[in-house]
Amino acid sequence: MGSQFLREESTINSIILHFKSVKVPSVGIFVAFVVAFLLHATVSATVSNTVLSSIINAYLNWRFPIKSTNGQEDLPTLAYVFPNGQGNSEKLAESAKGQRTLEKTYGKIVLTRPHQVQAVFKDSNLHLKGENFNQGWLCGQILGNCLGILNLENWTRVRSICVDIFQHNKAPTHIPFIQQRIDKQFQILQSTKQIQNKKMTLQPSEDLKLLSFQIFCDIIYHDLTSTMETELLSLLKLRESIWVEVTKGGICRFSFSQILPTPTNRLLRTFKSKWEDFNDRAYKRAKNIGLGPETPIILLYTALDEGRMKKIEVLHTLDELLFENLDVSLGALAWNVIFLAAHPETQAEVRKEIAQAKEKDGEEAWVSYLLSNSTLIQACILESARLKPIVLFTTVQAIPSPRVVDDFVIPAGTHFVVDTHALNVSDPYWGDESTKYKPGRWLQSRSLTSERVEAEAVV
Ligand SMILES: *[C@@H]1O[C@H](CO)[C@@H](O)[C@H](O)[C@H]1NC(C)=O
Ligand SMILES: *[C@@H]1O[C@H](CO)[C@@H](O)[C@H](O)[C@H]1NC(C)=O
Ligand SMILES: *[C@@H]1O[C@H](CO)[C@@H](O)[C@H](O)[C@H]1NC(C)=O
Repeated sequence: MGSQFLREESTINSIILHFKSVKVPSVGIFVAFVVAFLLHATVSATVSNTVLSSIINAYLNWRFPIKSTNGQEDLPTLAYVFPNGQGNSEKLAESAKGQRTLEKTYGKIVLTRPHQVQAVFKDSNLHLKGENFNQGWLCGQILGNCLGILNLENWTRVRSICVDIFQHNKAPTHIPFIQQRIDKQFQILQSTKQIQNKKMTLQPSEDLKLLSFQIFCDIIYHDLTSTMETELLSLLKLRESIWVEVTKGGICRFSFSQILPTPTNRLLRTFKSKWEDFNDRAYKRAKNIGLGPETPIILLYTALDEGRMKKIEVLHTLDELLFENLDVSLGALAWNVIFLAAHPETQAEVRKEIAQAKEKDGEEAWVSYLLSNSTLIQACILESARLKPIVLFTTVQAIPSPRVVDDFVIPAGTHFVVDTHALNVSDPYWGDESTKYKPGRWLQSRSLTSERVEAEAVV
């Protein structure tokens, strides 16, 4: 209901159904033709692809116009391309330029300025997210019911369960896991790398690749056996190969592809059953070794037993936490290291700050240093996150009521994404040195910037 993408996709499905129901003498040949046409049309730049794309594009523009308040202007847009929609590659390339304003792409509008974000996201708890992150059927098979994609009462219900896992006040309980895992990883690195003058060269994206993944595993499952850890790593590989297909798009975007005997579908079946089996066993083990009810895996399965969560929501949310966020958390971590390496002065100051915090007495002082948000190290983390946003575009959300944004009348149900690079880097707010690494900006104008982060947090 109410979402343009859904309407568009069901349009395509009904075209297909319509073809199927036409009675012609040699139905077999006709169906074969249509299937061949559609399969061929999934390959970009073929004749059938161009034909189908432009028909759908013309229809979409006619069916879902967005006009200025005086009714004179159309919102600028890119053309629709079957079957991936539009802008999937353009938007990545374009975002680097960061100079765009309000812009319509395949039924979604890209927001690039803070005031637009406020106008659109002021009621974000009422927004509807795109089905399957608008990435199609295959994506929905692994993530379609994760917390990040649920809507309204479903989101509220599952969030109230998961919030206990990652709330700020829970952070202290995670610190020992994080510390242990980092120690372990650095022992491994020290035994495999060349060390000169007590120094070694760290390659963040290689050497830290699995670090945040393993930390999340530790937090969720609490010390797995080494066999289970190995098992998780092989699940990660399997999951990665499915994700490659999701990002390629094509036929796996449509639910009818589930009947095809493709290698992807085989991988998917294997992954789904192994993933469920793994989590069932991890839960049983956690119970057997007497871990507390606040252990995330126990927390989720208890909600399941009590009917507060569905199995598919548990599995997809765990996937979201562990696999889906892997690149994002690796990126976030690695960029911090890279920025500090590139800015020795800042690095020296951070080291000084850490040394001072360590000098203070007791574990408590150290924990409160780690949790404080007015430290230089925290400013470094924010600045790194600002310059290298974790995602280029936020996930798609649809507004529940019509509104005027930048003088265009946007109907209810329109989908929006936020261009985070435009907001976090190119926006004039950040001043002349917006592309420079200046952690100090987070310490000086504390109140201003924290207001701003709150405005972004609603996204
Ligand atoms: C909540 O989930 C149920 C079942 O998964 C679904 O039928 C319902 O439409 C969902 N509600 C919303 C608002 O998405
Ligand atoms: C840190 O940020 C939180 C949330 O914005 C705030 O409630 C808290 O007072 C801040 N703490 C410090 C020490 O600045
Ligand atoms: C934008 O920058 C802020 C401040 O560093 C950060 O918290 C936020 O995660 C960034 N946005 C994205 C999408 O990465």
